[in-house]
Amino acid sequence: MKPQVGIEALAFAVPHRYLDIEDLARARGVEPAKYTAGLGAKEMAVPDPGEDAVALAATAAARLLRRNDVDPARIGMLVVGTETGVDHSKAVASHVQGLLKLPRSMRTFDAQHACFGGTAGLMAATEWIASGAGAGRVALVIATDLARYERLGAGEPTQGGGAVAMLVSERPEVLSLDVGLNGTCSMDVYDFWRPHGRREALVDGHYSIDCYLDSVAGAYRGWRERALAREVVRWGERTPSEQLARILYHVPFCKMAKKAHARVRRCDLEDGAGGATLSPEALDGASRSETSYGTQVATSLGLNARVGNAYTASLYLALVGVLHAEARALAGQRVGLFSYGSGCCGEFFSGVVGEGAARKLALADVDGVLAARERVSMEEYERVMAMPPGEPPQATPAPGTFRLVGIRDYRRVYAEG
Ligand code: CAA
Repeated sequence: MKPQVGIEALAFAVPHRYLDIEDLARARGVEPAKYTAGLGAKEMAVPDPGEDAVALAATAAARLLRRNDVDPARIGMLVVGTETGVDHSKAVASHVQGLLKLPRSMRTFDAQHACFGGTAGLMAATEWIASGAGAGRVALVIATDLARYERLGAGEPTQGGGAVAMLVSERPEVLSLDVGLNGTCSMDVYDFWRPHGRREALVDGHYSIDCYLDSVAGAYRGWRERALAREVVRWGERTPSEQLARILYHVPFCKMAKKAHARVRRCDLEDGAGGATLSPEALDGASRSETSYGTQVATSLGLNARVGNAYTASLYLALVGVLHAEARALAGQRVGLFSYGSGCCGEFFSGVVGEGAARKLALADVDGVLAARERVSMEEYERVMAMPPGEPPQATPAPGTFRLVGIRDYRRVYAEG
């Protein structure tokens, strides 16, 4: 029997300030329902320059290792997925290695492909272990990002930030991955990008949604083909996608997961035996089933709605969120995951929730991390967002967290609370 590989433990970190999304809407003269119902947002993380991709990654990883009592000597690979790295050359992974005093014997690197970098890292780690190359060692995979768009632009309510750290091993107590079932769909498109020297991303918003939806359809069909061949799912009374207990999607804003789910359902309805008999209206209605969305997707969005977009970390915040809500009920059940990185690359994969997931999620202390945040006014949001990058305000890091405290001779200096 092949060894199981997947996520043994995870932890997350978010900036210590957040803005209520209705405050942003009112300040911008927008009907709040557009942001709450139209985009599915509640709150948005507001990082200051001290909370960069390195600081959030190191904080999440330190929590993971400390709370799960991980012996650093077990770690043979450290990979960071990010699209908001801090240097054209030096890896975020190297910073994290130094801050956490991790072993020299590790392979360390960053993976970049917009929001897909975290999944690229997770798959590199999984396949490294599954191939036997890891020789019994484990991997530390971190997805970390800050989502930032132009002030007053359409993307402004979809900002945010955060990091998720995952321990990948042959003891997947949280999620055992179905190695080799992955379906991928990549295209050369300009839907979202951030040229060198820009802090704010550029995005062709509605086109980016179309690219995401094309990508999820292609990747899901690829996964389904392999899952059918391995008899993980079957055509029958329930469609293949309905045989997944939950499906987690990359969440640039929560409503996107609903659109993605409708597209996945549409793939099954179009390709299945009954598809040809449905009128276009019936096909549309069945794709957008509120019942299916409520059962298979909605519970994964609780954390994302309170943090906003965190690019590479968004899918993994959805994983933390769904397991926080219902790990016990999901133990032993298969879930699907879809990762999307603009530019673009999408990957649909799956795994089985472990019996230890509830215990591991309790260690991630989701409620405690959220409760430690401070709600800021619109004035404070404007003040923080106007701070120049690389000039962090003088603040002592909270216990157990890291902050950038300055840049000396082009070298970034961090402090631990
Ligand atoms: N009450 C309720 N709903 C309302 C409303 C109201 N008063 N007013 C508008 N709405 C609804 C609209 O009907 C719409 O819903 P549907 O999409 O279901 O039709 C929704 O609110 C949004 O309205 P608009 O489309 O008019 O919003 P917009 O054009 O101002 O901006 C956006 C939306 C394009 C997503 C923009 O926020 C944006 O550019 N965001 C950044 C890009 C992005 O997140 N792209 C996602 C795919 S790319 C990706 O996933 C990678 C990544 O992480 C960036």
